[in-house]
Amino acid sequence: MKVNEEYTAEIEKVTNLGAGIAKIDGFVVFVENTCPGDIIKIKITKVNKNFANGKISEIITPSSHRVKPFCPMYNACGACQLQFIDYDYQLELKQKITEETIRSISGLDIEIQKTISSPEIKNYRRKIQYPISQTKNSGRILAGYFKPKTHEIVNIKYCPIQPEICDSIIEFIREKAFDFGIQGFNEKKHTGDLRHVVIRNSALTGKNLVVLVVNATKIFDRLKDFAKSIYNEFEDVTGVCVNYNSKKTNVILGTKSECLYGEEFIEEKLIDKTFKIGANTFFQINPKSAENIFKYVKDYIAENFKDPVVLDAYAGITSFGICIADVCKKVVSVEENKESTELARQTAQENNVQNVEIHNMDASVFFAKEKRKFDVIILDPPRKGCSKESLDEAFRLSKDTIIYVSCNPATLARDLKILTKKGCEVTSIQPFDMFCHTFHIENVAIIKKKQPIS
Ligand SMILES: C[S@@+](CC[C@H](N)C(=O)[O-])C[C@H]1O[C@@H](n2cnc3c(N)ncnc32)[C@H](O)[C@@H]1O
Repeated sequence: MKVNEEYTAEIEKVTNLGAGIAKIDGFVVFVENTCPGDIIKIKITKVNKNFANGKISEIITPSSHRVKPFCPMYNACGACQLQFIDYDYQLELKQKITEETIRSISGLDIEIQKTISSPEIKNYRRKIQYPISQTKNSGRILAGYFKPKTHEIVNIKYCPIQPEICDSIIEFIREKAFDFGIQGFNEKKHTGDLRHVVIRNSALTGKNLVVLVVNATKIFDRLKDFAKSIYNEFEDVTGVCVNYNSKKTNVILGTKSECLYGEEFIEEKLIDKTFKIGANTFFQINPKSAENIFKYVKDYIAENFKDPVVLDAYAGITSFGICIADVCKKVVSVEENKESTELARQTAQENNVQNVEIHNMDASVFFAKEKRKFDVIILDPPRKGCSKESLDEAFRLSKDTIIYVSCNPATLARDLKILTKKGCEVTSIQPFDMFCHTFHIENVAIIKKKQPIS
């Protein structure tokens, strides 16, 4: 096989990173923006030892699951990779991708449940973070997502997966920044003021927290005036904060934030508890789908345990812990982000939850020094999953059940392999659609110790 050669083939399946797979004489070729059932002419773009990459040069017969993407920016933006596939089939694909990823990485043959759909499939994304730059000559602000595999901003005026008010706030920033002398960030030269705009929108109240991430270490008058104009313009903007990030880094938020106008958080409701979410706190971007996950975990614990002691690890604002507290004897949570931990303590108090013990610490440090054993351990790590040491310790601290919540099927599969080797069995894996129209999948795995400790 050589670069630029063309072949006709059918797309058989999709990888966990969203690329279609075709086989040409048994050789695997990855082709982006394709759907199982597509018969296409593929132009080879790169040949590796065990696989090749190609792109569509012609769709001969489209898959019956192809639909017209509802976003006008679909081709330019690339954030919703699966938008050209009908929603029911996206859910089916996510189930199949999970099954295939778990089997190929862990060797485990587990039947994966049907994906639970998101209650909202448009306007669901309630945290947006747009990089900001400006045009070379006129200095006009550009705000949007990076084009795939580049740092070139697609200037997004309308995004149907986020609440409409976010478009209006961004448009105001685009139009008014110049008047206040606020410049967009130049990543190469590391100059300019505004690096990112982060907006958190509440599904409960519709209110918004706007965070201006600036290339500075302290407040300046132009920024203060600009922030005030945003706050005054929108009734539903209830807070404008600044986050200082002057470092040469791809990390969006710096460590220091300050509220300039209004309140420094929005409120969100999960099951029957109200949470505060600040500029720097982790919170699921799709709260309604997240609520389904919290209910699923709470119901599982209520149905299978009486007065359990539960460890909520990688806890964020202790969202699992606080949601499940009334079916537990005690919940202990551990989270490394200080702001999240402080908000968790405040949230527990405001919701009159008294049986939650909250620790601000690295999870592996906490595990290593902890002596108590837990009926249930909830692990909800970031995309990179858990370290081997953390899994060893979680196994040691677990009496019976580990509930592993994962946003990355590949690291989930790796970690399940480690846990099953140590003496666990995976009893179920339930996918949830948290990130509709993208290839991302959230899964909840229930893992039981083969020899529970009584
Ligand atoms: C996927 S989020 C889950 C948060 C929470 N369970 C929720 O659903 O809202 C992962 C969390 O783990 C935290 N985290 C990452 N590495 C950590 C570590 N080594 N120790 C403790 N917490 C960590 C992050 O700050 C983040 O809040």
